[in-house]
Amino acid sequence: MAEPTRAAEGTTAPDATILVVDDEPELCRALGKLLARNGYEVHTAGNGDEGLAILREREIHLVLSDLQMPRMGGVELLKASRVVSPHTEFVIITGHGTIEVAVDAMKQGAYDFIEKPFSTTTTLNVVRKALEKQHLRTENQRLRERLQEMQADQDIIGSSTIMRQTLATARQVADSSATILLTGESGTGKEVFASAIHRWSDRADRSMVRISCAALPETLLEAELFGYEKGAFTGATTRRTGRFEAAHDGTLFLDEVGEMSPATQVKLLRVLQENVIERLGGHEAIPVDVRIVAATNADLETMVEEGTFREDLFYRLNVINVELPALRHRGEDVVLLTDFFLQKYNAKNGKNLQGFTREAMEVLANYAWPGNVRELENAVERAVVLGREDTVGVEALPRSVASGRQRFDAVNIPVGTTLRDAEMQLITATLESTGGDKETAANILGIASRTIYRKLQ
Ligand SMILES: Nc1ncnc2c1ncn2[C@@H]1O[C@H](COP(=O)(O)OP(=O)(O)OP(=O)(O)O)[C@@H](O)[C@H]1O
Ligand SMILES: [Mg+2]
Repeated sequence: MAEPTRAAEGTTAPDATILVVDDEPELCRALGKLLARNGYEVHTAGNGDEGLAILREREIHLVLSDLQMPRMGGVELLKASRVVSPHTEFVIITGHGTIEVAVDAMKQGAYDFIEKPFSTTTTLNVVRKALEKQHLRTENQRLRERLQEMQADQDIIGSSTIMRQTLATARQVADSSATILLTGESGTGKEVFASAIHRWSDRADRSMVRISCAALPETLLEAELFGYEKGAFTGATTRRTGRFEAAHDGTLFLDEVGEMSPATQVKLLRVLQENVIERLGGHEAIPVDVRIVAATNADLETMVEEGTFREDLFYRLNVINVELPALRHRGEDVVLLTDFFLQKYNAKNGKNLQGFTREAMEVLANYAWPGNVRELENAVERAVVLGREDTVGVEALPRSVASGRQRFDAVNIPVGTTLRDAEMQLITATLESTGGDKETAANILGIASRTIYRKLQ
Protein backbone atom coordinates (compact mmCIF):
# COMPACT_ATOMS: atom_id res chain seq x y z
CA MET A 1 0.00 0.00 0.00
CA ALA A 2 1.68 3.18 -1.13
CA GLU A 3 1.65 6.41 0.79
CA PRO A 4 -0.81 8.94 -0.55
CA THR A 5 0.60 11.30 -3.13
CA ARG A 6 -0.35 14.94 -2.94
CA ALA A 7 -0.36 17.66 -5.49
CA ALA A 8 2.56 20.05 -5.64
CA GLU A 9 1.99 23.08 -3.49
CA GLY A 10 0.31 25.99 -5.15
CA THR A 11 -2.20 24.04 -7.20
CA THR A 12 -5.78 24.19 -6.01
CA ALA A 13 -6.77 20.78 -4.73
CA PRO A 14 -10.25 19.70 -5.87
CA ASP A 15 -10.64 18.16 -2.46
CA ALA A 16 -11.25 14.63 -3.63
CA THR A 17 -9.52 11.36 -2.85
CA ILE A 18 -9.00 8.82 -5.58
CA LEU A 19 -7.94 5.19 -5.37
CA VAL A 20 -6.14 3.66 -8.35
CA VAL A 21 -6.13 -0.13 -8.50
CA ASP A 22 -4.05 -1.88 -11.14
CA ASP A 23 -1.79 -4.89 -11.14
CA GLU A 24 0.66 -3.17 -13.49
CA PRO A 25 2.85 -1.08 -11.16
CA GLU A 26 3.97 1.15 -14.04
CA LEU A 27 0.44 2.11 -14.95
CA CYS A 28 -0.52 2.59 -11.33
CA ARG A 29 2.34 4.98 -10.81
CA ALA A 30 1.74 6.92 -14.01
CA LEU A 31 -1.94 7.35 -13.34
CA GLY A 32 -1.32 8.27 -9.73
CA LYS A 33 1.17 10.91 -10.76
CA LEU A 34 -1.15 12.42 -13.33
CA LEU A 35 -4.00 12.71 -10.83
CA ALA A 36 -1.79 14.05 -8.06
CA ARG A 37 -0.42 16.66 -10.43
CA ASN A 38 -3.98 17.78 -10.94
CA GLY A 39 -4.57 18.27 -7.28
CA TYR A 40 -6.24 15.05 -6.19
CA GLU A 41 -5.20 13.02 -3.20
CA VAL A 42 -4.26 9.63 -4.61
CA HIS A 43 -3.89 6.18 -3.11
CA THR A 44 -2.73 3.20 -5.14
CA ALA A 45 -3.22 -0.52 -4.77
CA GLY A 46 -1.67 -3.38 -6.73
CA ASN A 47 -4.66 -5.71 -6.48
CA GLY A 48 -8.33 -5.93 -5.52
CA ASP A 49 -7.78 -7.06 -1.94
CA GLU A 50 -5.46 -4.20 -1.21
CA GLY A 51 -7.90 -1.82 -2.84
CA LEU A 52 -10.75 -3.11 -0.74
CA ALA A 53 -8.69 -2.69 2.43
CA ILE A 54 -8.12 0.97 1.58
CA LEU A 55 -11.82 1.44 0.82
CA ARG A 56 -12.64 0.10 4.26
CA GLU A 57 -10.17 2.36 5.94
CA ARG A 58 -10.68 5.79 4.50
CA GLU A 59 -13.06 7.95 2.60
CA ILE A 60 -12.50 7.41 -1.10
CA HIS A 61 -14.55 9.45 -3.53
CA LEU A 62 -13.59 7.65 -6.70
CA VAL A 63 -11.99 4.34 -7.63
CA LEU A 64 -10.20 3.87 -10.93
CA SER A 65 -9.80 0.14 -11.25
CA ASP A 66 -8.35 -2.15 -13.86
CA LEU A 67 -10.85 -4.66 -15.14
CA GLN A 68 -8.65 -7.72 -15.40
CA MET A 69 -6.57 -8.54 -12.38
CA PRO A 70 -5.66 -11.89 -10.87
CA ARG A 71 -8.00 -13.09 -8.05
CA MET A 72 -10.31 -10.13 -7.51
CA GLY A 73 -11.10 -8.45 -10.84
CA GLY A 74 -12.49 -4.95 -11.35
CA VAL A 75 -16.13 -6.01 -11.40
CA GLU A 76 -15.75 -8.03 -8.20
CA LEU A 77 -14.08 -5.07 -6.54
CA LEU A 78 -16.93 -2.87 -7.74
CA LYS A 79 -19.50 -5.18 -6.18
CA ALA A 80 -17.59 -5.34 -2.92
CA SER A 81 -17.15 -1.58 -2.85
CA ARG A 82 -20.91 -1.13 -3.07
CA VAL A 83 -21.10 -2.80 0.31
CA VAL A 84 -18.11 -1.37 2.15
CA SER A 85 -18.27 2.11 0.67
CA PRO A 86 -21.56 2.78 -1.08
CA HIS A 87 -20.87 6.47 -1.77
CA THR A 88 -17.72 5.81 -3.77
CA GLU A 89 -17.95 6.34 -7.50
CA PHE A 90 -16.32 3.76 -9.77
CA VAL A 91 -14.56 3.97 -13.12
CA ILE A 92 -13.25 0.87 -14.88
CA ILE A 93 -10.01 0.76 -16.84
CA THR A 94 -10.22 -1.70 -19.68
CA GLY A 95 -7.71 -3.26 -21.97
CA HIS A 96 -8.19 -3.65 -25.65
CA GLY A 97 -11.21 -5.72 -26.71
CA THR A 98 -12.94 -5.96 -23.37
CA ILE A 99 -15.55 -3.28 -23.96
CA GLU A 100 -18.43 -5.70 -23.45
CA VAL A 101 -17.25 -6.54 -19.98
CA ALA A 102 -16.82 -2.84 -19.30
CA VAL A 103 -20.39 -2.15 -20.40
CA ASP A 104 -21.47 -4.94 -18.12
CA ALA A 105 -19.59 -3.24 -15.29
CA MET A 106 -21.54 -0.08 -15.95
CA LYS A 107 -24.73 -2.02 -15.57
CA GLN A 108 -23.39 -3.07 -12.17
CA GLY A 109 -23.10 0.58 -11.26
CA ALA A 110 -19.77 1.78 -12.61
CA TYR A 111 -19.96 5.39 -13.74
CA ASP A 112 -17.85 5.04 -16.88
CA PHE A 113 -14.86 3.25 -18.34
CA ILE A 114 -11.57 4.35 -19.85
CA GLU A 115 -9.90 2.28 -22.52
CA LYS A 116 -6.18 1.59 -22.54
CA PRO A 117 -4.10 3.23 -23.79
CA PHE A 118 -5.81 6.39 -22.60
CA SER A 119 -5.11 10.05 -23.19
CA THR A 120 -4.51 12.47 -20.37
CA THR A 121 -7.44 14.66 -21.38
CA THR A 122 -9.94 11.83 -21.56
CA THR A 123 -8.85 10.45 -18.22
CA LEU A 124 -9.05 13.81 -16.46
CA ASN A 125 -12.42 14.52 -18.02
CA VAL A 126 -13.92 11.23 -16.93
CA VAL A 127 -12.48 11.69 -13.45
CA ARG A 128 -13.85 15.20 -13.14
CA LYS A 129 -17.33 14.17 -14.24
CA ALA A 130 -17.41 11.09 -12.05
CA LEU A 131 -16.40 13.18 -9.04
CA GLU A 132 -19.03 15.77 -9.82
CA LYS A 133 -21.66 13.07 -9.90
CA GLN A 134 -20.34 11.60 -6.67
CA HIS A 135 -20.42 15.00 -5.00
CA LEU A 136 -23.96 15.70 -6.11
CA ARG A 137 -25.17 12.31 -4.99
CA THR A 138 -23.71 12.46 -1.50
CA GLU A 139 -24.75 16.08 -1.15
CA ASN A 140 -28.33 15.19 -2.04
CA GLN A 141 -28.34 12.26 0.28
CA ARG A 142 -27.04 14.37 3.13
CA LEU A 143 -29.67 17.01 2.49
CA ARG A 144 -32.43 14.43 2.36
CA GLU A 145 -31.35 12.97 5.64
CA ARG A 146 -31.32 16.39 7.27
CA LEU A 147 -34.65 17.19 5.72
CA GLN A 148 -36.18 14.01 7.03
CA GLU A 149 -34.90 14.73 10.48
CA MET A 150 -36.49 18.12 10.42
CA GLN A 151 -39.69 16.99 8.80
CA ALA A 152 -40.35 14.41 11.42
CA ASP A 153 -42.40 17.01 13.25
CA GLN A 154 -42.96 19.91 10.88
CA ASP A 155 -42.97 21.06 7.34
CA ILE A 156 -41.15 24.26 8.01
CA ILE A 157 -37.76 24.10 6.39
CA GLY A 158 -34.81 26.01 7.79
CA SER A 159 -31.78 25.34 9.92
CA SER A 160 -30.23 28.80 10.14
CA THR A 161 -29.82 30.14 13.64
CA ILE A 162 -32.39 32.84 13.12
CA MET A 163 -34.94 30.35 11.76
CA ARG A 164 -34.34 27.96 14.65
CA GLN A 165 -34.89 30.79 17.10
CA THR A 166 -38.07 31.83 15.32
CA LEU A 167 -39.32 28.25 15.34
CA ALA A 168 -38.50 27.87 19.02
CA THR A 169 -40.41 31.03 19.89
CA ALA A 170 -43.41 29.99 17.83
CA ARG A 171 -43.46 26.57 19.43
CA GLN A 172 -43.15 28.02 22.88
CA VAL A 173 -46.05 30.42 22.47
CA ALA A 174 -48.26 28.06 20.44
CA ASP A 175 -49.70 26.35 23.45
CA SER A 176 -51.15 29.43 25.09
CA SER A 177 -54.28 31.21 23.99
CA ALA A 178 -52.43 34.48 23.58
CA THR A 179 -52.93 36.46 20.42
CA ILE A 180 -49.99 36.25 18.07
CA LEU A 181 -48.96 38.75 15.45
CA LEU A 182 -46.84 37.33 12.65
CA THR A 183 -44.85 39.94 10.80
CA GLY A 184 -42.43 39.71 7.92
CA GLU A 185 -42.03 40.50 4.26
CA SER A 186 -44.19 38.89 1.62
CA GLY A 187 -43.41 35.23 1.07
CA THR A 188 -41.50 34.67 4.31
CA GLY A 189 -43.88 31.98 5.54
CA LYS A 190 -46.41 33.77 7.74
CA GLU A 191 -49.20 31.50 6.63
CA VAL A 192 -47.04 28.42 7.07
CA PHE A 193 -46.28 29.54 10.64
CA ALA A 194 -49.92 30.32 11.38
CA SER A 195 -50.88 26.75 10.47
CA ALA A 196 -47.98 25.33 12.46
CA ILE A 197 -48.89 27.35 15.55
CA HIS A 198 -52.41 26.00 15.32
CA ARG A 199 -51.11 22.44 14.92
CA TRP A 200 -48.83 22.82 17.93
CA SER A 201 -51.55 24.33 20.09
CA ASP A 202 -54.01 22.51 22.31
CA ARG A 203 -56.67 23.56 19.81
CA ALA A 204 -55.15 21.36 17.12
CA ASP A 205 -58.13 19.03 17.05
CA ARG A 206 -60.44 21.95 16.27
CA SER A 207 -60.35 23.93 13.09
CA MET A 208 -58.24 26.86 12.02
CA VAL A 209 -60.31 29.28 9.98
CA ARG A 210 -58.51 31.70 7.69
CA ILE A 211 -59.71 34.98 6.36
CA SER A 212 -57.83 37.57 4.37
CA CYS A 213 -58.68 41.12 5.30
CA ALA A 214 -57.33 42.35 1.98
CA ALA A 215 -59.52 40.32 -0.31
CA LEU A 216 -62.90 41.77 0.67
CA PRO A 217 -64.50 45.23 0.81
CA GLU A 218 -65.54 46.47 4.24
CA THR A 219 -69.15 45.21 4.46
CA LEU A 220 -68.36 41.84 2.97
CA LEU A 221 -65.44 41.38 5.33
CA GLU A 222 -67.62 42.16 8.34
CA ALA A 223 -70.35 39.84 7.06
CA GLU A 224 -67.73 37.11 6.71
CA LEU A 225 -66.19 37.74 10.13
CA PHE A 226 -69.32 38.16 12.22
CA GLY A 227 -72.07 36.61 10.11
CA TYR A 228 -75.47 38.20 9.66
CA GLU A 229 -79.15 37.85 10.43
CA LYS A 230 -81.78 37.46 7.75
CA GLY A 231 -82.61 40.90 6.31
CA ALA A 232 -79.47 42.58 7.70
CA PHE A 233 -78.82 44.03 4.24
CA THR A 234 -80.11 43.62 0.72
CA GLY A 235 -79.34 40.10 -0.32
CA ALA A 236 -79.22 38.70 3.21
CA THR A 237 -82.05 36.28 2.56
CA THR A 238 -81.04 33.82 5.24
CA ARG A 239 -79.11 34.00 8.46
CA ARG A 240 -75.42 33.08 8.22
CA THR A 241 -72.83 32.45 10.85
CA GLY A 242 -69.43 34.06 10.40
CA ARG A 243 -65.83 32.92 10.66
CA PHE A 244 -65.58 33.83 14.34
CA GLU A 245 -68.32 31.37 15.16
CA ALA A 246 -66.82 28.79 12.81
CA ALA A 247 -63.51 29.14 14.63
CA HIS A 248 -65.07 28.71 18.08
CA ASP A 249 -62.73 26.67 20.29
CA GLY A 250 -60.21 26.81 17.48
CA THR A 251 -57.98 29.38 15.81
CA LEU A 252 -58.88 32.31 13.60
CA PHE A 253 -56.14 33.36 11.22
CA LEU A 254 -56.59 37.02 10.31
CA ASP A 255 -54.34 37.43 7.31
CA GLU A 256 -53.22 40.85 6.02
CA VAL A 257 -54.71 42.49 9.06
CA GLY A 258 -53.12 45.83 8.12
CA GLU A 259 -55.65 46.15 5.30
CA MET A 260 -58.64 46.34 7.62
CA SER A 261 -60.74 49.51 7.43
CA PRO A 262 -60.98 51.76 10.50
CA ALA A 263 -64.64 50.82 11.07
CA THR A 264 -63.89 47.09 11.02
CA GLN A 265 -60.89 47.68 13.28
CA VAL A 266 -63.26 49.09 15.92
CA LYS A 267 -65.51 46.05 15.70
CA LEU A 268 -62.61 43.64 15.87
CA LEU A 269 -61.20 45.42 18.89
CA ARG A 270 -64.50 45.00 20.69
CA VAL A 271 -64.55 41.27 20.01
CA LEU A 272 -61.02 40.91 21.30
CA GLN A 273 -61.86 42.81 24.47
CA GLU A 274 -65.13 41.12 25.26
CA ASN A 275 -64.93 37.74 23.58
CA VAL A 276 -68.40 38.11 22.17
CA ILE A 277 -69.60 38.82 18.66
CA GLU A 278 -72.78 40.25 17.26
CA ARG A 279 -73.99 39.16 13.85
CA LEU A 280 -74.72 42.03 11.45
CA GLY A 281 -78.31 43.09 11.93
CA GLY A 282 -78.53 41.15 15.16
CA HIS A 283 -78.52 42.19 18.83
CA GLU A 284 -77.64 38.98 20.55
CA ALA A 285 -74.15 38.82 22.06
CA ILE A 286 -72.69 35.46 21.14
CA PRO A 287 -69.73 34.34 23.24
CA VAL A 288 -66.77 33.02 21.28
CA ASP A 289 -63.58 31.36 22.42
CA VAL A 290 -61.19 31.98 19.58
CA ARG A 291 -57.44 32.12 19.45
CA ILE A 292 -56.34 34.87 17.10
CA VAL A 293 -53.27 34.61 14.94
CA ALA A 294 -52.89 37.71 12.80
CA ALA A 295 -50.41 38.36 10.04
CA THR A 296 -49.22 41.35 8.09
CA ASN A 297 -46.38 42.41 5.88
CA ALA A 298 -47.21 46.05 6.61
CA ASP A 299 -45.36 48.04 9.23
CA LEU A 300 -48.18 48.40 11.74
CA GLU A 301 -46.15 50.56 14.08
CA THR A 302 -45.67 53.16 11.38
CA MET A 303 -49.35 52.85 10.47
CA VAL A 304 -50.19 53.57 14.09
CA GLU A 305 -47.97 56.66 13.99
CA GLU A 306 -49.64 57.75 10.78
CA GLY A 307 -53.07 57.15 12.25
CA THR A 308 -54.16 54.48 9.77
CA PHE A 309 -54.14 51.64 12.27
CA ARG A 310 -55.68 51.88 15.73
CA GLU A 311 -53.10 51.88 18.48
CA ASP A 312 -55.33 50.00 20.93
CA LEU A 313 -55.99 47.26 18.37
CA PHE A 314 -52.29 47.06 17.61
CA TYR A 315 -51.50 46.33 21.26
CA ARG A 316 -54.30 43.77 21.45
CA LEU A 317 -52.93 41.92 18.44
CA ASN A 318 -49.27 42.35 19.22
CA VAL A 319 -49.35 40.46 22.53
CA ILE A 320 -46.73 38.17 21.09
CA ASN A 321 -44.87 39.15 17.99
CA VAL A 322 -43.18 36.52 15.86
CA GLU A 323 -41.11 38.14 13.17
CA LEU A 324 -40.24 36.01 10.18
CA PRO A 325 -36.78 36.72 8.78
CA ALA A 326 -36.31 37.61 5.14
CA LEU A 327 -34.66 34.86 3.11
CA ARG A 328 -31.64 37.06 2.33
CA HIS A 329 -30.89 37.15 6.05
CA ARG A 330 -30.76 33.39 6.24
CA GLY A 331 -28.91 32.52 3.06
CA GLU A 332 -27.84 29.14 4.41
CA ASP A 333 -31.45 27.94 4.25
CA VAL A 334 -31.57 28.45 0.50
CA VAL A 335 -29.92 25.09 -0.20
CA LEU A 336 -32.31 23.18 2.04
CA LEU A 337 -35.37 24.92 0.67
CA THR A 338 -34.19 24.39 -2.90
CA ASP A 339 -33.85 20.67 -2.37
CA PHE A 340 -37.18 20.51 -0.56
CA PHE A 341 -38.97 22.19 -3.46
CA LEU A 342 -37.04 20.13 -6.00
CA GLN A 343 -38.42 16.97 -4.46
CA LYS A 344 -41.88 18.46 -4.13
CA TYR A 345 -42.08 19.44 -7.79
CA ASN A 346 -40.31 16.32 -9.03
CA ALA A 347 -43.09 14.33 -7.41
CA LYS A 348 -45.80 16.63 -8.65
CA ASN A 349 -44.55 16.56 -12.23
CA GLY A 350 -43.40 12.98 -12.42
CA LYS A 351 -39.80 14.11 -12.96
CA ASN A 352 -36.56 13.02 -11.44
CA LEU A 353 -34.16 15.95 -11.60
CA GLN A 354 -31.14 15.24 -9.45
CA GLY A 355 -30.10 18.70 -8.38
CA PHE A 356 -28.63 21.99 -9.44
CA THR A 357 -25.23 22.57 -10.98
CA ARG A 358 -22.75 24.23 -8.69
CA GLU A 359 -23.00 27.41 -10.71
CA ALA A 360 -26.79 27.50 -10.48
CA MET A 361 -26.63 26.78 -6.77
CA GLU A 362 -24.25 29.70 -6.33
CA VAL A 363 -26.64 32.01 -8.15
CA LEU A 364 -29.48 30.87 -5.91
CA ALA A 365 -27.41 31.28 -2.78
CA ASN A 366 -26.31 34.79 -3.62
CA TYR A 367 -29.56 36.20 -4.95
CA ALA A 368 -31.37 38.72 -2.74
CA TRP A 369 -34.83 37.04 -2.99
CA PRO A 370 -37.08 40.08 -2.61
CA GLY A 371 -40.07 37.71 -2.90
CA ASN A 372 -38.53 35.42 -0.28
CA VAL A 373 -39.44 31.71 -0.05
CA ARG A 374 -42.37 32.06 -2.43
CA GLU A 375 -40.07 33.43 -5.13
CA LEU A 376 -37.59 30.61 -4.57
CA GLU A 377 -40.36 28.02 -4.71
CA ASN A 378 -41.62 29.46 -8.00
CA ALA A 379 -38.12 29.47 -9.47
CA VAL A 380 -37.58 25.80 -8.56
CA GLU A 381 -40.99 24.76 -9.84
CA ARG A 382 -40.29 26.49 -13.14
CA ALA A 383 -36.90 24.80 -13.44
CA VAL A 384 -38.45 21.39 -12.79
CA VAL A 385 -41.23 21.90 -15.30
CA LEU A 386 -38.86 23.12 -17.99
CA GLY A 387 -35.98 20.82 -17.07
CA ARG A 388 -34.81 18.27 -19.61
CA GLU A 389 -31.41 17.51 -18.22
CA ASP A 390 -30.51 15.54 -15.16
CA THR A 391 -29.33 18.65 -13.37
CA VAL A 392 -30.64 22.18 -13.43
CA GLY A 393 -28.28 24.79 -14.83
CA VAL A 394 -28.27 28.57 -14.64
CA GLU A 395 -30.15 28.78 -17.95
CA ALA A 396 -33.21 27.17 -16.34
CA LEU A 397 -33.47 29.90 -13.70
CA PRO A 398 -35.73 32.90 -14.22
CA ARG A 399 -33.83 35.79 -15.75
CA SER A 400 -34.66 37.98 -12.78
CA VAL A 401 -32.79 35.53 -10.58
CA ALA A 402 -29.89 34.75 -12.91
CA SER A 403 -29.10 38.41 -13.47
CA GLY A 404 -30.78 39.77 -10.39
CA ARG A 405 -29.78 41.79 -7.43
CA GLN A 406 -27.26 39.97 -5.34
CA ARG A 407 -27.50 39.56 -1.64
CA PHE A 408 -24.15 41.16 -1.08
CA ASP A 409 -24.53 44.63 -2.46
CA ALA A 410 -21.32 46.52 -2.98
CA VAL A 411 -20.58 50.14 -2.45
CA ASN A 412 -18.32 51.70 -5.02
CA ILE A 413 -16.29 54.48 -3.45
CA PRO A 414 -13.95 56.33 -5.78
CA VAL A 415 -10.65 57.67 -4.54
CA GLY A 416 -11.16 61.31 -3.73
CA THR A 417 -14.21 60.67 -1.56
CA THR A 418 -14.00 62.10 1.93
CA LEU A 419 -14.06 59.63 4.78
CA ARG A 420 -17.23 61.27 5.97
CA ASP A 421 -18.98 60.72 2.63
CA ALA A 422 -17.68 57.18 2.34
CA GLU A 423 -19.06 56.43 5.77
CA MET A 424 -22.44 57.84 4.83
CA GLN A 425 -22.56 55.74 1.66
CA LEU A 426 -21.74 52.56 3.55
CA ILE A 427 -24.30 53.30 6.24
CA THR A 428 -26.99 54.05 3.67
CA ALA A 429 -26.24 50.91 1.65
CA THR A 430 -26.23 48.74 4.78
CA LEU A 431 -29.54 50.21 5.88
CA GLU A 432 -30.97 49.48 2.45
CA SER A 433 -29.88 45.88 2.68
CA THR A 434 -31.52 45.49 6.09
CA GLY A 435 -34.72 47.04 4.84
CA GLY A 436 -34.25 50.10 7.06
CA ASP A 437 -33.70 48.06 10.23
CA LYS A 438 -31.29 50.28 12.15
CA GLU A 439 -30.55 47.75 14.89
CA THR A 440 -29.40 45.13 12.41
CA ALA A 441 -27.51 47.67 10.34
CA ALA A 442 -25.72 48.84 13.47
CA ASN A 443 -24.79 45.26 14.32
CA ILE A 444 -23.42 44.69 10.83
CA LEU A 445 -21.43 47.90 10.94
CA GLY A 446 -20.22 47.18 14.43
CA ILE A 447 -21.46 50.43 15.94
CA ALA A 448 -24.20 51.34 18.38
CA SER A 449 -27.58 52.06 16.84
CA ARG A 450 -27.68 55.50 18.39
CA THR A 451 -24.48 56.27 16.45
CA ILE A 452 -26.42 55.52 13.28
CA TYR A 453 -29.18 57.90 14.30
CA ARG A 454 -26.63 60.56 15.10
CA LYS A 455 -24.73 60.16 11.84
CA LEU A 456 -27.89 60.20 9.78
CA GLN A 457 -28.85 63.57 11.17
N1 LIG B 1 -39.86 27.69 6.07
C1 LIG B 1 -40.56 27.24 5.00
N2 LIG B 1 -40.46 25.94 4.64
C2 LIG B 1 -41.13 25.48 3.56
N3 LIG B 1 -41.90 26.22 2.77
C3 LIG B 1 -42.04 27.52 3.07
C4 LIG B 1 -41.39 28.09 4.20
N4 LIG B 1 -41.70 29.39 4.25
C5 LIG B 1 -42.52 29.63 3.21
N5 LIG B 1 -42.74 28.51 2.50
C6 LIG B 1 -43.55 28.41 1.26
O1 LIG B 1 -43.43 29.66 0.59
C7 LIG B 1 -44.67 30.10 0.11
C8 LIG B 1 -45.03 31.42 0.74
O2 LIG B 1 -45.28 31.24 2.13
P1 LIG B 1 -46.49 31.99 2.88
O3 LIG B 1 -47.70 32.00 2.01
O4 LIG B 1 -46.61 31.40 4.23
O5 LIG B 1 -45.87 33.46 2.95
P2 LIG B 1 -46.49 34.77 3.60
O6 LIG B 1 -45.48 35.30 4.54
O7 LIG B 1 -47.85 34.50 4.10
O8 LIG B 1 -46.53 35.74 2.32
P3 LIG B 1 -47.57 36.95 2.02
O9 LIG B 1 -47.21 38.07 2.95
O10 LIG B 1 -47.25 37.30 0.60
O11 LIG B 1 -48.95 36.42 2.21
C9 LIG B 1 -45.66 29.01 0.40
O12 LIG B 1 -45.82 28.18 -0.72
C10 LIG B 1 -45.02 28.23 1.54
O13 LIG B 1 -45.40 26.89 1.52
MG1 LIG C 1 -49.74 35.10 3.46
